Amino acid sequence: MKETVLSGIRPTGNLHLGNYFGAVKNFVRMQDEYNCYFFIADWHSLTTCPKPENIVASTETILAEYLACGLDPEKVTIYMQSDVKEVLELYLYLNMNTYLGELERVTTFKEKARKQPDNVNAGLLTYPTLMAADILIHRALKVPVGKDQEQNMEMARKCARRFNNIYGVDFFPEPQSFYFSKEAVKVPGLDGTGKMGKSEGNCIYLKDDAATVKKKVMKAVTDSGPTAPNSEKPEVIQNLFTLLNIVSRPDTVQYFEEKWNDCSIRYGDLKKQLAADIVSYTEPIRERILEFSSDRSRLQAIAAAGAEKARESARKTISEVRHIIGFRDL
Ligand code: ADP
Ligand code: TRP
Repeated sequence: MKETVLSGIRPTGNLHLGNYFGAVKNFVRMQDEYNCYFFIADWHSLTTCPKPENIVASTETILAEYLACGLDPEKVTIYMQSDVKEVLELYLYLNMNTYLGELERVTTFKEKARKQPDNVNAGLLTYPTLMAADILIHRALKVPVGKDQEQNMEMARKCARRFNNIYGVDFFPEPQSFYFSKEAVKVPGLDGTGKMGKSEGNCIYLKDDAATVKKKVMKAVTDSGPTAPNSEKPEVIQNLFTLLNIVSRPDTVQYFEEKWNDCSIRYGDLKKQLAADIVSYTEPIRERILEFSSDRSRLQAIAAAGAEKARESARKTISEVRHIIGFRDL
């Protein structure tokens, strides 16, 4: 039996290089070896209240982008979270065993509450239990996500353990975060510090054309250059090298490392090379995004087939959960 893997992304915009290298690329690498569920977390996106007219468009965008990145609906189950209502029933049971205090301590909750003080809604508070329900509904063991999700993953494990303890069963396995390398990949932004992220407004999107990529990279923050040979790189420069390491060939990285070390580096050349290498990486993906996006009926058919498969697995779990708690099976 193949192990079950599950992950999801909220449809809050287009996929950027951070989402790709931190998450979706790993989904693609797992699809042959595992029993995979990859979904689009549209219910979670309601925690920040997008306009209703944007929700459908955003979910279809992410679906087209998942497919363009290489997820194969013949191999993996790709679905919309809102197509699997069984998740809500599990969410309710998990909420009954989760305490206000522990939800209030989650850092992402505290951050969001600070960012949207007029909309500290109950969905925001219970974001981690909905995420736990997403995972436990398929009894997934491995969850490929970035490091920022660690606290939510800890809550998911807590939910699984608590359910098992309360009902005296060994039903839910404890899901683990999954990274391919020892360290989770963190793709930096182009504005000097921190990670690439939608809310940071510093993203290169997979759908960006060559001219847009070039413009964004050329604008990246730098400094006045190294002042002594072999010196340590300040964060703004290290970030450019980190990106170069991700998209360029090792000999290209080596070339610019040497230029840095002997103080002859020209940031303009480095940026031109970085832009060109990002474009050659993303160009084939971009073409496929355009192709998949142009065929809405195909996207809808893929989503419908995925929903069917996901619900079949979800129904089995809910039926057992109802039995364990003592409710009549429906
Ligand atoms: P954003 O920060 O742009 O809102 P999300 O929080 O929706 O992105 O993240 C979706 C997935 O992509 C998560 O698994 C997250 O860990 C990963 N991810 C997002 N940004 C990065 C980044 N800069 N580096 C690595 N992984 C990232
Ligand atoms: N919280 C995740 C993020 O912001 C999205 C998500 C929702 C998720 N449910 C999940 C990820 C279940 C993995 C498993 O990126």
